[in-house]
Amino acid sequence: MSDILTIRRPDDWHVHLRDGPMLDAVAVYTARQFARAIIMPNLIPPVTTSAAASAYRDRIMAALPEDSDFTPLMTAYLTDTIDADDLASGHDEGIFTAAKLYPAGATTNSDSGVTDVANIHGVLARMEAIGMPLLIHGEVTDNEVDIFDREAVFIEQILEPLTRDFPALKIVFEHITTADAVEFVKAAGANIAATITPHHCVINRNAIFEGGVRPHAYCLPVAKREQHRLAVRAAAVSGSPKFFLGTDTAPHARGDKESSCGCAGIFNAPYALESYAAIFDAEGALDNFEGFASEHGPRFYGLPLNEGSITLRRAALEIPDIMPIEGTELVPFQAGETLGWTLD
Ligand code: DOR
Ligand code: ZN
Repeated sequence: MSDILTIRRPDDWHVHLRDGPMLDAVAVYTARQFARAIIMPNLIPPVTTSAAASAYRDRIMAALPEDSDFTPLMTAYLTDTIDADDLASGHDEGIFTAAKLYPAGATTNSDSGVTDVANIHGVLARMEAIGMPLLIHGEVTDNEVDIFDREAVFIEQILEPLTRDFPALKIVFEHITTADAVEFVKAAGANIAATITPHHCVINRNAIFEGGVRPHAYCLPVAKREQHRLAVRAAAVSGSPKFFLGTDTAPHARGDKESSCGCAGIFNAPYALESYAAIFDAEGALDNFEGFASEHGPRFYGLPLNEGSITLRRAALEIPDIMPIEGTELVPFQAGETLGWTLD
């Protein structure tokens, strides 16, 4: 059993970097571990134009040390009225790597999202034609649907029809949480893939209620029952090119999580690679780690693989309980736990 794991430099295909002081505080954690990251556009106001994305990209680079070679890959926040010409030209000019579909009301800062996929059919046809990937938060927003069923119902009601209407559209089903999603992606064509977070491989829904309400285990889509965690975890370590790394790191100040209405989101950026490595190790699948972290994502997106490598060592890593950041505190994923791998 090897104690040293050297892999091609990895990328994170789903990240919330926020803006302002929070951006300044958290950007470095992602940039330290990953060469590139897909940057979520759910700011206030959301990133809906190429001009806004370009300005946000500049703010991200300004938040990093001058010699950083990190590359933020920007995304557009789809709305009912998004300008398809700006979206397409932004993609053509390399400002937009992809566009994100938030069903309106599905999650944090999604109020301006799409109220009915029918409203963006023209935009999706355009994206399909130019090969621009669609990233999907796959949950229905109907309050009548049980929160633990919203991903499975989304597949049936929205995603299956969408893939029939746009058979060549590249789709990333983001942060999948169910066996249903795993099965859907496996059975779909090569143009459909999924990202998997470390937390959905590690926790099931019991973690949210263990001895009391645990706000730091709350994210959206919410963790599901054990059988789903096992299916998602098996997909991650399987070696299938359809599944790749996307942390969905989503920092919220500690006070905003530990509140009567706590925000959804898990801050896992500081030790993401160590968390994933521990998962692959526990599953006896370290041989598949490089594909998941560094190869499947760029191949799906049609981007070059990174040059260079990173090394993880088998050594105890204590995750702090709390990380003080400018004026506030963040609680990282697996706070207070000890992992078996450390990034050099
Ligand atoms: O838990 C989540 N947090 N899920 C999301 O979809 C959004 C994210 C956030 O922005 O905080
Ligand atoms: Zn997210």
